[in-house]
Amino acid sequence: MRTQVGIIGAGPAGLLLSRLLAQRGIDSVVLENRSRSYVEARIRAGILEQHTVDTLTEAGVGHRLRREGMEHRGIHLQYPGTRHTLDFPELCGRTVWVYGQTEVTKDLIKAQLDGGPPLLFEVSDVTPEDVDGDSPRIRFTDAEGNPQVLDCDVVAGTDGFHGVSRPVVTAGTAGQLWERTYPYAWLGILADAAPSTDELIYAWHPEGFALYSMRSPSVSRLYLQVDPTDSIDNWSDDRIWENLSRRLDLDGWSVNTGPVTEKSILPMRSFVSAPMRRGRLFLAGDAAHIVPPTGAKGLNLAVADVTLLAAALDRLLNERRSDLVDAYSDSALRRVWRCTHFSWWMTSMLHTSGDDFDAQLQLSQLRRVCGSEAAARELAENYTGLPIEG
Ligand code: APR
Ligand code: PHB
Repeated sequence: MRTQVGIIGAGPAGLLLSRLLAQRGIDSVVLENRSRSYVEARIRAGILEQHTVDTLTEAGVGHRLRREGMEHRGIHLQYPGTRHTLDFPELCGRTVWVYGQTEVTKDLIKAQLDGGPPLLFEVSDVTPEDVDGDSPRIRFTDAEGNPQVLDCDVVAGTDGFHGVSRPVVTAGTAGQLWERTYPYAWLGILADAAPSTDELIYAWHPEGFALYSMRSPSVSRLYLQVDPTDSIDNWSDDRIWENLSRRLDLDGWSVNTGPVTEKSILPMRSFVSAPMRRGRLFLAGDAAHIVPPTGAKGLNLAVADVTLLAAALDRLLNERRSDLVDAYSDSALRRVWRCTHFSWWMTSMLHTSGDDFDAQLQLSQLRRVCGSEAAARELAENYTGLPIEG
């Protein structure tokens, strides 16, 4: 088998890259080690920045998003006694969209299987080789158990945090890793309950952070800060709703409850690996970086990476010029670090550590964001997404 770009991993990064390349006349093959149903069932975050919506629309996968997604014009920031609304259009002229990453992935897979470049599920033993030369290849075993070789001009490592690509980059470059594991986790639920809020609520509470989000007019997504060593078995649905009610409490208002259809505990970490390139192997998305979920930057960063990478590969493969691929890692990492800072900052402002001094600093910061237009604008610009700079 031969293709121009061999793409490892069919998450949002790999699937969108394949589409953006096809629009530029570049062919690709996407290799995914899980099944289609597994990939489509993974529940992830649900906030899309404006540029993400624009990119998905330009890539031809924006129809259902425009129909079923919900445009949000702000967020509510809450601490005891106060619920303050930040109006994004007023602060920075942009909005965000609520549309689950799971739905983005389904739309991309459907488009791919409907006449797009090849997408192979349930492959195994995926191994990128000879990435330092001009003719790399990917060895893998197909779903029927046959060994295969995919010869390519370029390999894209979009195989997430646990993928095989990043170790190949790290082994062959004088790279660096940065990591921070936070001392809290999120317990997330999906519930068949109409959200009783128009915008997302980010709430600081002495017992811990809570977030009221949603997936549709009839499905709520809510999160509670919990201890990372806690087990989901300790959290009955009743206990979860009681904690959500207490942490999101406001006079004359209540959380709308309903049957819980999914619940799990997610760890929180920041992770950045540089460079995002070794020779003809390029990393994008979670393969190169992880942000904590506060601020919902994970998917948006993956989209920003592949937007840059698609333009760079267009220049390399269609014009034989390497300036953009040479700039790719540094350009992508500048945005990665901006989002890493923003996610860390939101996380640090909203999660309680049990330390009283920290709590007073957090409340002071929250009052500042709610009381100063300059401070609010800084949050709004980052939350809705800064422009992508190549
Ligand atoms: N071979 C083939 N595919 C692999 C391999 C492998 N060795 N290892 C992992 N994969 C697949 C995973 O099964 C997954 O489908 O790569 C894909 C990576 O997708 P994601 O983890 O979704 O990562 P990415 O596409 O970068 O998406 C960005 O945004 O909200 C965040 O973390 C969230 O996934 C999200 C991310
Ligand atoms: C979500 O809806 O899953 C979500 C929303 C906002 C965040 C994180 C997650 O900051």
